[in-house]
Amino acid sequence: MSKKKSQFEAILKNVKEIPALPDIAVRVMRMTRDADVTANQLTDVISQDPGLTGNILRLCNSAYYGLPRVISSLSQAIMYLGFHTVRNLVLTCTISDLLGGDRTIYGHSSGGLWTNSFACAVASQQIAHHIRPSLHDTAFTAGLLRDIGKVVIHRQIKDTESTLVELMTQANLSLLAAEQQTLGYTHPEIGAALADLWNFPHELVDAIQNHHHPSVIPGDSLVTVIVHAADVMVIERGYGVELTQLRYPLDRTATEQKHITQEILDRVSAELDQHIASIGDLLIPRGSAKS
Ligand SMILES: [Fe+2]
Repeated sequence: MSKKKSQFEAILKNVKEIPALPDIAVRVMRMTRDADVTANQLTDVISQDPGLTGNILRLCNSAYYGLPRVISSLSQAIMYLGFHTVRNLVLTCTISDLLGGDRTIYGHSSGGLWTNSFACAVASQQIAHHIRPSLHDTAFTAGLLRDIGKVVIHRQIKDTESTLVELMTQANLSLLAAEQQTLGYTHPEIGAALADLWNFPHELVDAIQNHHHPSVIPGDSLVTVIVHAADVMVIERGYGVELTQLRYPLDRTATEQKHITQEILDRVSAELDQHIASIGDLLIPRGSAKS
């Protein structure tokens, strides 16, 4: 067993309530790794969930993908977008339910984790568009899921959440330091452990684990650095954020290394509201009010 894997298992041992990945997402991820699976087989599985199918088709036909024709069926979507993108769409649509809802999660306003995650997804996608367009859907999914660990922590410390907030506001600790002191692990660590348990692709696990400190991973970590830059941007801009203590500085060494210039970040920030509006209502988590 790798060192990373055993670290993830050790963290998960301390968690009382581990959320389950929806069965359909488990099946789709397994199928998209199997070279023998056909588009028809994938269509059969996804179409068992009409809500998911509808969400995928709405996203395919949105300005987000900008396809030249209307996609009217799942098989067309798979043909045009490919297995990889459809897998990301399934993850995006199924996991968004976990991030939604009206509950208040530490440091965020009511429903703010969703607002913040969605803004991060769009900002990540837009940064990728400037740097490496082929990564734009992976960046969107990674940006959406980077704080999934907060959902686990919220369930774990419902009664003592105020301790965490007090450590940030009164003891002036950073979010990660407050989480470490309260629980012994941080939301990127528990999020990555969960993503690994769910067999997410490695680029998503890395982005979730290192989105606050992208410089710690060697090699090609472009998606992670993109998500980091988007994360800093949307927290700074206050999307769904209540506590200004959630802010943290951009790792300029990492962004410069990946050619994510200040000019690109300023442009993405200036156009962010417009891009969010272009897909805003297409991805509402089930169980959330449309407000
Ligand atoms: Fe985070």
